[in-house]
Amino acid sequence: MEAVDRRARRFNKRRNPSHPEGPPTGGGTALQDRGDATSVFALKWNVHPRRSTTSGSFAIASIAAPQGKSGVPNPIIVALDVPTASEAVALARQVAPFVGAFKVGKELFVSAGPDIVRTLRATGASVFLDLKFHDIPNTVAKAVAAATRLDVQILTVHCSGGSAMMTAALRSANETAAEMGRPAPLILGVTVLTSMDSAALAELGGETRVEIQVERLAKLAAESGLTGLVCSPLELQRLKPLLPAGMQFVTPGIRTGAEKADDQKRTLSPREAMEAGSTYLVIGRPIYAAPDPAAAAQAILASVSG
Ligand code: C5P
Repeated sequence: MEAVDRRARRFNKRRNPSHPEGPPTGGGTALQDRGDATSVFALKWNVHPRRSTTSGSFAIASIAAPQGKSGVPNPIIVALDVPTASEAVALARQVAPFVGAFKVGKELFVSAGPDIVRTLRATGASVFLDLKFHDIPNTVAKAVAAATRLDVQILTVHCSGGSAMMTAALRSANETAAEMGRPAPLILGVTVLTSMDSAALAELGGETRVEIQVERLAKLAAESGLTGLVCSPLELQRLKPLLPAGMQFVTPGIRTGAEKADDQKRTLSPREAMEAGSTYLVIGRPIYAAPDPAAAAQAILASVSG
């Protein structure tokens, strides 16, 4: 474990030379090692009172009512797209004061397992488990029950799994959460992956117009009872009028202009995406690949808080 700690410290130093041990205590929210053999997996957040209603709010409430303006909870979900638990924890520690939740995706979950979710949740942070379930309804229901028992605040299913699968996911989340006496996670439907274009849809043999397929899947998700969708922020203008008023939109494909677009084809800035009607912004590389992830997250938060 000492080796893990050393790697985490090196990672921190590389990512944030000015704060090699993470943000300074008292300057917002800090992750603290307990200093024992399990320190990487035993962390606590100190929420600074002045920040608790803005950038330092990591409680479930921050997921329930994000607005992205000053004085209200933080809409930034940072994607912890790193391969190991120690790197994820080091990154989380750096950006904690400036984000509202952490996203755990396939790479991190497959390599670090459910313990990384428990570690993040133990700090009080909200967690978005982005495993994009797509299987027969019974299997998805059981996976959703397991995720609900892990106490994640958001999870994803593919809308293309169909209404029976989405309904089963929703029922499972509600029943499991009721058994545990806690709020059910927000289940987001993934419409058409933002990496797919009409040529990719044509390979599948169905509708080839991306916007029509997105619309169709979004409506199916709403009819199945889902109250959240993952989509491009550029799709919001078209989608919103077609869907129930309470629908929440989580949008990746965010770029600040300070970095290259990478593989994201259609992007908006954080502020533009919020103005377009995003409820939450999923942001990966513009934060974790920045020379100083904490500074990058802070700048993004400032840009949506004005
Ligand atoms: O690095 P970047 O900001 O592009 O990361 C975007 C994150 O959002 C990644 O974790 C990716 O898996 C996720 N995502 C996406 N497009 C979707 C659904 C999720 O980019 N349609």
